[in-house]
Amino acid sequence: MAAKRFEGRVAVVTGASSGMGLATAAQLAAEGAKVVMVARTKDKLEAAAADIKAKGGDVLAVAADVSKDAANKEIVDAALSAYGKLHIAFLNAGTYGGAPVDQVTEELFDKIFDVNVKSVAFGLKHVLPAIEKSGGGGSVIINSSGMALRATANPAFAGGGLYSASKAAADMVMKYAAIEASKHKTRVNSIAPGIVQTAIMGEGMTDESYNAFAAPVSLVGRVGTPEEIAPFVCFLASDEATFITGSVHEVDGGWGLKA
Ligand SMILES: NC(=O)c1ccc[n+]([C@@H]2O[C@H](COP(=O)([O-])OP(=O)(O)OC[C@H]3O[C@@H](n4cnc5c(N)ncnc54)[C@H](OP(=O)(O)O)[C@@H]3O)[C@@H](O)[C@H]2O)c1
Repeated sequence: MAAKRFEGRVAVVTGASSGMGLATAAQLAAEGAKVVMVARTKDKLEAAAADIKAKGGDVLAVAADVSKDAANKEIVDAALSAYGKLHIAFLNAGTYGGAPVDQVTEELFDKIFDVNVKSVAFGLKHVLPAIEKSGGGGSVIINSSGMALRATANPAFAGGGLYSASKAAADMVMKYAAIEASKHKTRVNSIAPGIVQTAIMGEGMTDESYNAFAAPVSLVGRVGTPEEIAPFVCFLASDEATFITGSVHEVDGGWGLKA
């Protein structure tokens, strides 16, 4: 039997209790990685971890708020204490929200930037030294957004300025981190998904309503699934992607051409 791609590797996945984080944690674990799964809501996170364990995965659930510097240190400490090393991180946790310019509040600004930018800055601050101490040659992937790369007058994305700006900020933090991490041959990249069917847009979105929203702005005519994103994240995490660092990768069903 062929060796699993991530055998002997340790990964941290934030936002791992649902959506793209959960799909990626499940794939990394299925391919042999030991995975530290992070989210705030403990019960939901532990249920997600139990599902992966039931399929033979080796995972550890750590409930934490990744918008806090100290929490990011605790996550890395937990990974090192459980598994001894760290090689891969998918800094995926994020939040969506929007408002027209004349209705922006400090509360909305802080919510979006705290989760989408601080989680990346403080995540990188703690995972990169741990990866270096584990021998380097690791891979960190940020979950940005196609909205970091363009503004659109499509009313479906009205009020998206703060979200777009937060993801663009995360991408620039990623690029400088890639420059610094190259000294230990660790790669840092972002993915920029299009519209993916997850809980982030709020409860109450059915398959039909999601597709009605996504189809007109997708070249493939439908919304994406978390299971269509996870393989690309795993590719970036793997040694098949050793020539790829410091860049933003659109995985969007052509959303970028139609948004
Ligand atoms: N869905 C899309 O169309 C789309 C498109 C482009 C980019 N993205 C990005 O993809 C990423 C993943 O989102 P998703 O769509 O997969 O959404 P999701 O299913 O809602 O998952 C979000 C995850 O992040 C966790 N989370 C949120 N805030 C957190 C915090 N402060 N600390 C720790 N964990 C936190 C959530 O759990 P708790 O709430 O329990 O903490 C959950 O596990 C986000 O960064 C999002 O901006 C999404």
